[in-house]
Amino acid sequence: MTVARAWSAALVGLDAVPVVVEAAMGLGLPGLTVVGLPDAAVRESRERIRSALRQIGFPLPGRSVVVNLAPADLPKSGTGFDLALAMAILAATGDVPAEGLGGMTLVGELALDGEIRPVPGVLSIAEASRAEGRRRIIVAPGNAAEASAVPGVEVLPASHLGAVVAHVAGRELLVPYVVPPAVPDELGDEPDLGEVRGQAMARRALEIAAAGGHNILLSGPPGSGKTMLARRLPGILPPLSPEEALETTRIWSAAGRLRTGSGLLRTRPFRSPHHGSSAPALSGGGSDPRPGELSLAHHGVLFLDELPEFRRDALEALREPLEEGLVRVTRASGSRTFPARFILVAAMNPCPCGFRGDPRKECTCTEHDVGRYRRKISGPLLDRIDLHVEVPALPSSDLTAQDTPESSRLVRERVLKARARQAARTGDARLTNAVLSPARLRVTAALQPEAAALLARAMDRLALSARAHQRVVRVARTIADLEGSPDTGPSQVAEALRYRSPTGVQTR
Ligand SMILES: Nc1ncnc2c1ncn2[C@@H]1O[C@H](COP(=O)(O)OP(=O)(O)OP(=O)(O)O)[C@@H](O)[C@H]1O
Ligand SMILES: [Mg+2]
Repeated sequence: MTVARAWSAALVGLDAVPVVVEAAMGLGLPGLTVVGLPDAAVRESRERIRSALRQIGFPLPGRSVVVNLAPADLPKSGTGFDLALAMAILAATGDVPAEGLGGMTLVGELALDGEIRPVPGVLSIAEASRAEGRRRIIVAPGNAAEASAVPGVEVLPASHLGAVVAHVAGRELLVPYVVPPAVPDELGDEPDLGEVRGQAMARRALEIAAAGGHNILLSGPPGSGKTMLARRLPGILPPLSPEEALETTRIWSAAGRLRTGSGLLRTRPFRSPHHGSSAPALSGGGSDPRPGELSLAHHGVLFLDELPEFRRDALEALREPLEEGLVRVTRASGSRTFPARFILVAAMNPCPCGFRGDPRKECTCTEHDVGRYRRKISGPLLDRIDLHVEVPALPSSDLTAQDTPESSRLVRERVLKARARQAARTGDARLTNAVLSPARLRVTAALQPEAAALLARAMDRLALSARAHQRVVRVARTIADLEGSPDTGPSQVAEALRYRSPTGVQTR
């Protein structure tokens, strides 16, 4: 009995694990059996494969065919094994030369007519394939750009099972994918800060958030520009580094959220999940957990509009990523860790009706309503938001003013300089002031004596916690970096303190 082999890979969290697909002809009744912990989707592949093989003129033989997915103790899920299964069967029946499948990884879902469809996780699969020394990978055309983001891998896009058979049989070779030249200015369509009028304080806070990687809470009445401002944060952040692009794309790919045909993500993600989102939708979920919104926002911006309307368990799920830059998802099938380092932008109205403190319209809320609304956001969460800013109703004079507000390009230049100063101190561009370890912070942001005295007085007056103290120092350091000042002095501390609690929500 000959056993034919084809190579594919299973996605485990964000990582791909190589899987060998072994096919053998048996002596039993005609039929196709798949073993090796396949889930329902993999078991259903039998019907797709049966039909696809018939379409290309190689119907299953009138004997039993057994396929094993090894390692057999690793649960296999999804539809990406279809192609490798079909090719291993064809090698076992002698319809293609078995040795033709060596050195390549096959991944793709089969349609009933034999068309090959894209599947999630191809970036990780291409990486795993290369690590195993298989430098050739056959994928659906829609997955080709993504697979070719991995250097040193030859990507062969194939649109149909018949084309793969012709390639392996040596009749007609598949043409390797060539990465198209990058489009130079892809930031062209991003919304621009030049469109936001007035709101000087919020604009300034947004710039500080971008410069130091700080989380920010915008509070104000409806229509004051909170959503507008939040959407403009990605456009003033530094471009994704190649390493960051790879990490973010890997997450999007594993979550099945990468657009078909998309290669590496080039712009920082902006995610704005609805306030009705469940905790699993945010953290990641499913029986075989996939990354959720918090991870899709990795290296980008997570925007939570109407923060108090979010479910309590959903807000609780934010704590770990805000602290550690990752989420842990635990399921019966095991626990998964997904990266989730983002800048949080939260927005809220000052009260349930939205008009508290707004001269245009009277607030209809009772003190009780207001208190309950604000208490929905827990202190520990607010504590992790460095910048609290009021975004008041825009006076009509601001809307009709003739001058043009500063554009994102100019703001971004200052942000880049401030980031460069931080990177020069730490030697790591990812270590912004917001995420520096406390020990490092003490060294890099030692306050001038006057500044320390000012902060000490403010601590007493505002009854700030030790954590809040540290947060103020972080923001002060970022302000100094924006100014190009090596020292953290009283003026920077004074400004940082203004972002501590103007929104009326308790932060201690
Ligand atoms: N500062 C501003 N400059 C220019 N246009 C603005 C400004 N603020 C609001 N607008 C206009 O009003 C619209 C609504 O603004 P936006 O959605 O940002 O308000 P919001 O504060 O998020 O309100 P809500 O609390 O209802 O969510 C914008 O699309 C824009 O056209
Ligand atoms: Mg809004």
